[in-house]
Amino acid sequence: MIQEKVRVPDFASMKAHRHRITMLTAYDYSFARIFDRAGIDAILVGDSLATTFRGEQTTLAVTVDEVVYHTRAVVRARERALVVADMPFLSYQVSAEDALRNAGRLIKEGGAEAIKLEGGTAIAETIRRIAAIDIPVMGHIGLTPQSVHRMGGHRVQGRKSGRGAGCRERLIDDALAVEAAGAFAMVIEGVPPSLAREITSRVSIPTIGIGAGSDCDGQVLVMHDMLGLNDSFKPRFAKSFADLGRSAAAATECYIREVREGHFPAAEHCYREAREN
Ligand code: KIV
Repeated sequence: MIQEKVRVPDFASMKAHRHRITMLTAYDYSFARIFDRAGIDAILVGDSLATTFRGEQTTLAVTVDEVVYHTRAVVRARERALVVADMPFLSYQVSAEDALRNAGRLIKEGGAEAIKLEGGTAIAETIRRIAAIDIPVMGHIGLTPQSVHRMGGHRVQGRKSGRGAGCRERLIDDALAVEAAGAFAMVIEGVPPSLAREITSRVSIPTIGIGAGSDCDGQVLVMHDMLGLNDSFKPRFAKSFADLGRSAAAATECYIREVREGHFPAAEHCYREAREN
C-alpha cells in the first residue's frame, strides 16, 4: 500500500507494479473519513448519488452543483485517497466549452483532483481538451449508466461481437480512444471478464472494474452495495462486506423502544445540576 497521499501519477505505478487499485464511492464527510482511514486508494463522488442519496431510478438528473457540494464534503474528510468527481449527464456532451468549465468547477469549487466521464470514441476529443488543461480524466466505458435509455436499462455490454453501440469490438475501440485522448485511468463497467481482460492487457493506463471480473487493475464498488445499505436492487457483482442496513434498522428499533419505555436517557446521559458555592 502507498503510505503517503495517493496522487494521479501513482495510478500508473500501481499498474506497473501489479498493485491492485481500490476505489469506493462516497458522498459525505463521515463515510469518506472511514474509507480514507481504512486505506482506500481513491474515492469517487459518483453521479450514483442520484440513486443512493436522492432515491432516483437513474443518474440522469444530477447537476454539477450537487457534485460540487458532495465533493466538498468528501474532500474535507480525505487525507490520503485521491478524490475523483463524476461529470453529470449533459455537463460535458453539449460543447467542449461546457465540458472545460464544468470539469474546472469540480476541481476549483469541489476540490477534486480528477474528474470522471462516460463514453469512448464519441467523447475522446472532449477528454483530450480537458486533459490538455491538466485536469486529470478518468474514463468510463462499457455499461455507462448515463446511456440507460439507449441500452434499454442497466444491461451488461460487450456480449455481442461487432462495432455497434455496446458491442465487443466497439468497446475495445472505445478503450483505445480513451487512452489515446490522455485519460490516466478508466472504469470498465458491466462487461464479461474476457473483454475486461483483453482491454486491460491492451491499454497502458489502469483499468478499474465494476462488474467486469477480476482481471482489471483495480476495483470500484458503490458504497451502499459494499456496506449492505442497498435493499432495493442488488446487482450480481455487488458483494456486501457488511450488513449496515440491518444494524441501522436494529439500532433504530432499540432507540424507539428505549425512549418509549423511559429507559433513555438514563442518568449518565444527563448534565449535572449547577454546583452550589
Ligand atoms: O457513479 C458511480 O458510482 C460510478 C461507479 C459505478 C463507477 O460511476
